[in-house]
Amino acid sequence: MKNIVVLVSGGGTNLQALIDAQNRGEINSGKITCVISSNPNAYALTRAENNGIETAVIRRKDYDEFDKYDEALTELLKSKNADLIVLAGFMTILGKGVIRAFENRIINIHPALIPSFCGEGYYGLRVHEEALKKGVKVTGATAHFVNEICDGGPIIIQKAVEVKDGDTPEILQKRVMEQAEWIILPRAVALFCEDKIKVIGNKTVISD
Ligand code: GAR
Repeated sequence: MKNIVVLVSGGGTNLQALIDAQNRGEINSGKITCVISSNPNAYALTRAENNGIETAVIRRKDYDEFDKYDEALTELLKSKNADLIVLAGFMTILGKGVIRAFENRIINIHPALIPSFCGEGYYGLRVHEEALKKGVKVTGATAHFVNEICDGGPIIIQKAVEVKDGDTPEILQKRVMEQAEWIILPRAVALFCEDKIKVIGNKTVISD
């Protein structure tokens, strides 16, 4: 059984999707053992507490240097015996220390079809604002491993979502969450826990 540690910063709907999938028995070989937030007021923490999951908070601003923050987060994750780390709306950039300590063991959910609308500065609602500005007809979400390139790690699953006339960033965000993120993130986590994802270079091969 793999220990899954979920990193959050906000509302935590992706965390909820993981908890729901776990409760439905869809994540057989793993268990969410801890939720760590960059924000002490994140509603995601309440979701964790409501489900009896241990929580912790680590704030970037409590460390004067980025490297010290990176080291502290790495140690915290090691102390929780994390086998898999899931970034579920985690809005703080991860440092090299964490990424190297957990190579191909960190999964992120990004609310667009990478390599579109991704990289530094593309997070949350901004991603959907940019997609609408560009006028794309299809967007979606990507579950991928995290490496040192922002949103550049091996892609695990992607799912497309239609953009409709009259969409606002908020409406599009909700559709992308419902039709893509909340489906592919738990699926990617389940596949990882069952050792069904092989990383070859910057690509993945799924055996299912
Ligand atoms: C989600 O849409 C997630 O894909 C996005 O933030 C939102 C968090 O919502 N993440 C990023 O933009 C990361 N670059 P949630 O807290 O309700 O899961």
